[in-house]
Amino acid sequence: MLGIKEAVERLSSGGVVAIPTETVYGLAADVTNLQAIQEVFSLKRRPTDNPLIVHISSLEQLGEISKPLTKLELSIINKFWPGPLTLILPRKKKVLDAVTAGLETVAVRMPNHSLCLDLLHKTGPLVGPSANLSGTPSPTKKEHVQTDFGPSFPILDGGVCTVGFESTVITCRTNNLSTARKNVSANTKMPSHSDIIIYRPGAISEQQLSEFGSVEYYSASQAEQDSTGSIPILPSPGLKYRHYAPKARVQWLLSIDQLRAVTSTSILLLLDKTQLVDQAQAIEGTFSFQELIQSFNLVDCEDSWERFGQLLYDTFRVADIENYTHVFVQDIRRSTATSSLKDALINRIEKAISG
Ligand code: TXA
Ligand code: MG
Repeated sequence: MLGIKEAVERLSSGGVVAIPTETVYGLAADVTNLQAIQEVFSLKRRPTDNPLIVHISSLEQLGEISKPLTKLELSIINKFWPGPLTLILPRKKKVLDAVTAGLETVAVRMPNHSLCLDLLHKTGPLVGPSANLSGTPSPTKKEHVQTDFGPSFPILDGGVCTVGFESTVITCRTNNLSTARKNVSANTKMPSHSDIIIYRPGAISEQQLSEFGSVEYYSASQAEQDSTGSIPILPSPGLKYRHYAPKARVQWLLSIDQLRAVTSTSILLLLDKTQLVDQAQAIEGTFSFQELIQSFNLVDCEDSWERFGQLLYDTFRVADIENYTHVFVQDIRRSTATSSLKDALINRIEKAISG
């Protein structure tokens, strides 16, 4: 484990350090150091065509990375930074191609984590993809980083991440951003009519963003084609990679019968156990549902969406480490309660279900 001083020293001399943010831990390196950037890709075993997010602590630092902002971008940033929102912006030329995977844009975020902001203030902009091996869930505490990179990996410990899943990634249409790489000819306009396009849902919701303009989710059918017209070029390369699913089978918990049919070891991730018990008792009469669920590893979030978000990836990691065969997740799609986290959580769970 590192103190902040050691973390600054390592990063300034070209090292890679796992750093805390409010969403998930990031694998940080100096944005201007090519060797350090290459080390991040190699440690994560990340394909080099999947660009990295840059973390900053001030608008001055943003100015080193991106071209001037539009009015819309500026108002969005003023509202949500520091926070779990990443903007895809036109990049300054001097940003290394390795960081952006050759794209003309760069993804930038100001994290809402005081230790991380303090670090960034001292180091300057740092790249920070999630600090996991490609194909494992993003890490939400230092133990997760150690599982993937070993017990002596340098980590700046900032405690458990309060959000627990990755930031919302957006772009604003006024930029007319191209998804073309320097060596690929492609159309230059986003085929969209909305002001804001969400590439990856996160804790900043569609509804919160809609105060600033029209919002839509990116869908793969909008992808530009390459010059041969056959290969879609995805504007956010991460979209094309397989998503994490634990070895255990992840399923929505749709009926109590599902649980009765399972005799092997299972984890139950519940938003609210009380609600489930009430539902079950209404259907089953005197049947002791409590008894049935006693044979499961219960993760009850006591009706807190925040807690549910914090525990999602941890539950997946526990399932892998402890060889559970099933992960049942309470069907939050049917929950009448509203939460700004709901869409993003459904998105991550559905990805884990479909692998
Ligand atoms: O919350 C987060 O965003 C965390 C913490 C550590 O900040 N970081 C994170 O990074 O999740 P990563 O690399 O695991 O996910 C970044 C996503 C990827 O899907 C990548 O393809 C996309 O952002 N991305 C990065 N640069 C981009 C660009 N210039 N244009 C479009 N998409 C980009
Ligand atoms: Mg990641």
